Amino acid sequence: MDTITPVLCDSNLYKYKGFCFYKEFMKPEFVDSLQDFQIRNDDLFLITYPKSGTIWTQQILSLIYSEGYRNGTEQIETTEIVPWIECQFMSDEIMDHNSRPSPRLFASHLSYRFVPQGLKMRKAKIIYVMRNPKDVINSLYHFEAMASYAKTSPDFDHFFKKFLDGEVFAGSWFDHVHGWCTHRDQFNILFIKYEDMIMDLRSVVKQMCKFLGKELDEEALDIVVKRASFNEMKKDPLANKEDLPEEFYNVKKGKFMRKGTIGDWKNTMTVAQSEVFDTIFQEKMGDLDIEFIWDNKEKA
Ligand code: A3P
Repeated sequence: MDTITPVLCDSNLYKYKGFCFYKEFMKPEFVDSLQDFQIRNDDLFLITYPKSGTIWTQQILSLIYSEGYRNGTEQIETTEIVPWIECQFMSDEIMDHNSRPSPRLFASHLSYRFVPQGLKMRKAKIIYVMRNPKDVINSLYHFEAMASYAKTSPDFDHFFKKFLDGEVFAGSWFDHVHGWCTHRDQFNILFIKYEDMIMDLRSVVKQMCKFLGKELDEEALDIVVKRASFNEMKKDPLANKEDLPEEFYNVKKGKFMRKGTIGDWKNTMTVAQSEVFDTIFQEKMGDLDIEFIWDNKEKA
């Protein structure tokens, strides 16, 4: 097995094959074993870098796939409908994905290198959601404060440097997004941007339905869009992640459903930090044809 190194600044994280995992949730042997996980053709993977709209898309997919969830007859949390493939919260709680009925939905923060090899046969589908990385940094910084398994940074500047060095959960944002974008041809993958969801959720839901081969009538679409709105989700206990184990999350210090906007990074990042970020973004992502909306004002 490759060497495991604790990540500088954070004794709770370890680096393995260039990716950062939390000791609490993921063991390297388990991560490696996922390579051989048996994929079914109708599996769907939701893949994101943290803080890019994961729980939002878990809600959308739950509403698209489950009529019972949509009409309220099934009271199932979205993390049960779209569970994590890589997390071992506690050894006695590992979900047996092999006994789940099809179609199975999964969530994952893994980089393209770690996902099951079977996904490369291009049959099962992947939805990859990305978000402008300045808002990702900001959201992750606030998230650190509530996650008791994360070592909280003393200030934003400290966190900013950790993020640029890829020494945060899931490693480098640049590697994650770059890796998935440049290996897209190996997968059956739809890329979605968080900002597009903010601007026109209905169109994005329709785009997802088309990719997934799901036909929802206008009434069902109305329900998906309404129940996936920030305000509805914030009060929805099945979707807002407020009943997560207290030993892991201190909901008095923060919320998964925090602000849900574009451009909140301006309240945290200095102009100098933003300029540093722009330079690095250009260096690392300049070869990709990728554009983000960075600011609420750009939403014309
Ligand atoms: P902020 O911290 O900027 O508010 P993830 O689920 O990947 O951890 O991402 C969490 C981010 O998605 C948080 O961003 C959260 O507020 C935002 N989010 C969750 N549901 C949302 C929704 N319905 N509309 C807009 N943003 C949402």
